[in-house]
Amino acid sequence: MTLLPGLLDTEAIRKDFPILDRQVHEGRKLVYLDNAATSQKPRQVLDALSEYYERYNANVHRGVHVLAEEATALYEGARDKVAEFINAPSRDEVIFTKNASESLNLVANMLGWADEPYRVDSETEIVITEMEHHSNIVPWQLLAQRTGAKLKWFGLTDDGRLDLSNIEEVITEKTKIVSFVLVSNILGTQNPVEAIVRRAQEVGALVCVDASQAAPHMPLDVQALQADFVAFTGHKMCGPTGIGVLWGRQELLEDLPPFLGGGEMIETVSMHSSTYAPAPHKFEAGTPPIAQAVGLGAAIDYLDSIGMDKILAHEHALTEYAVKRLLEVPDLRIIGPTTAEDRGAAISFTLGDIHPHDVGQVLDEQGIAVRVGHHCARPVCLRYGIPATTRASFYLYSTPAEIDALVDGLEHVRNFFG
Ligand code: ALA
Repeated sequence: MTLLPGLLDTEAIRKDFPILDRQVHEGRKLVYLDNAATSQKPRQVLDALSEYYERYNANVHRGVHVLAEEATALYEGARDKVAEFINAPSRDEVIFTKNASESLNLVANMLGWADEPYRVDSETEIVITEMEHHSNIVPWQLLAQRTGAKLKWFGLTDDGRLDLSNIEEVITEKTKIVSFVLVSNILGTQNPVEAIVRRAQEVGALVCVDASQAAPHMPLDVQALQADFVAFTGHKMCGPTGIGVLWGRQELLEDLPPFLGGGEMIETVSMHSSTYAPAPHKFEAGTPPIAQAVGLGAAIDYLDSIGMDKILAHEHALTEYAVKRLLEVPDLRIIGPTTAEDRGAAISFTLGDIHPHDVGQVLDEQGIAVRVGHHCARPVCLRYGIPATTRASFYLYSTPAEIDALVDGLEHVRNFFG
């Protein structure tokens, strides 16, 4: 058994995740290395979901009966837990959405419909990066098409980092918003927030951070980030699908217009016009994802019981080990940083000229679940001249033995394809 400093007690942790006991393909032990796509869920979260439906299910905010009050307390309690988890100055800055994509689309639409000084129009510029997930590219392309704003981006260096050498030309006095990923889902790169925020603040641009691959893996402090918006999703951090978060600075949420209209987000409605509820409700039209928020709250309790610092240290040790072992595989090329510094626990690679879909299929036959493709970050594949990658990604329950299984599995792939 490989022992690395900083590892969590995975034997105990894995007992909380029933699915990790599964066997696939007639008796093969499941090796789940697709955590950047979605994490598995501990029993504590599964229990919270079924308990919610068994005991408390009701619509929130509008009922006078016991169940409605209890469901509301649970839903709003989940908001408190999120606020504390990300060190938000106020619980009213936490908006529940259905996923990180919706959170990012919400920011783009708030700015698209805003008045001065926030309005994005044909005189202004939007800045993203070439390593964004499609969910932080397409909403900005849509906004640029609709408003005539110019979309600009930071390119990438050969070793998978942001090229900020031209930061003063990319972020200018015309920039209204800079939106970038904290940890790349395909390259694993952790980006230098401070340098980007500093330049954005110099020119008075807003900053939006996609923390989808960061919130599950490291302590996240929105005040320390000094961003204006931070988006992430629940299902990658032990929570259920169908729940995302947008954190935004309170004064911005007060000023910016809603995107979706409907029940729950209003103060008054007449046939001629409406006024809106204060944030966060202004941005939560319709029946919200109540059970999912409760599940996310349980996931946060679970992660807190382990400790985000410890989860980060565990994944750092695993990533260091995985990079070293993967680089021993002949013909394997890591697409992204090849040190464990400033990177997350998702590692993309190519294996000679074997197509990643073939790599993934042969690994799957051995019980090893990885993701293959462009990982919703196709510009990264175009930048590095590859059609796709194979990606292994780890979480708090991942073990060195699973990395060994991956490396053995890749040897099998190489033998299989001669
Ligand atoms: N965004 C998820 C991934 O990178 C689905 O796999």
